Amino acid sequence: MIKVLFICLGNICRSPMAEAVFQNLVNEAGLAGQFEIDSAGMADWHSGERADRRTLAVLKKHDIPYAGRSRQVQPADLRRFDYVLAMDSQNVADLRRLDRGDALDGKLHRLLDFAPAGHPQDVPDPYYDGRFDYVYELVDAASRGLLAHIRQEHRL
Ligand code: 4NP
Repeated sequence: MIKVLFICLGNICRSPMAEAVFQNLVNEAGLAGQFEIDSAGMADWHSGERADRRTLAVLKKHDIPYAGRSRQVQPADLRRFDYVLAMDSQNVADLRRLDRGDALDGKLHRLLDFAPAGHPQDVPDPYYDGRFDYVYELVDAASRGLLAHIRQEHRL
C-alpha cells in the first residue's frame, strides 16, 4: 500500500481538496486498491468538522465527492505515511518541528513541487480571500504530476 498524506493549516480548505482530487485521479487510473490517501491539519481548530463549504462546492462542480472530517496531524502520521505533501512552506517548517527524529526524511514535499514549471511554490490559503477555484487549478495540476511521479517510482 502506498500511503499519501496531504497537509495544510486547518484541514478544511486546501488539504481536503487535494485529498479528494488525488483520490479521484487514483480511482480513474484504476489504482485505488494500491493507495491509502488522507489529509490532516497542523492546527486542531476545526477537528471533527466537515470541509469548508467552499471547498465542497468546488469539488462538487468537478463531480468529486468528499466526506472526510478535519483532524490534526500526529507525529505517528509522519512515520506511517510514505509521501507527505505540504500545501505551503509554513506547513513544511511546522512539520519539521513536529518531526521527532528523522521520520520525514525523504518523504516531505511541497505539493506544488509536482506542478508544471511556472506555477507558484505555495498553495495560497483561500480561507479569507475565497480563491477556491484558483486553489483547485493548482491542486489539480500538481496532483497529476504527483501521481505520475509515484507511478514512476513504484513502476505502476
Ligand atoms: P486550510 O485553510 O489550511 O487550507 O484548511 C484554513 C482554514 C481555517 C483557518 C485558516 C486556514 N482558520 O484560521 O480557521
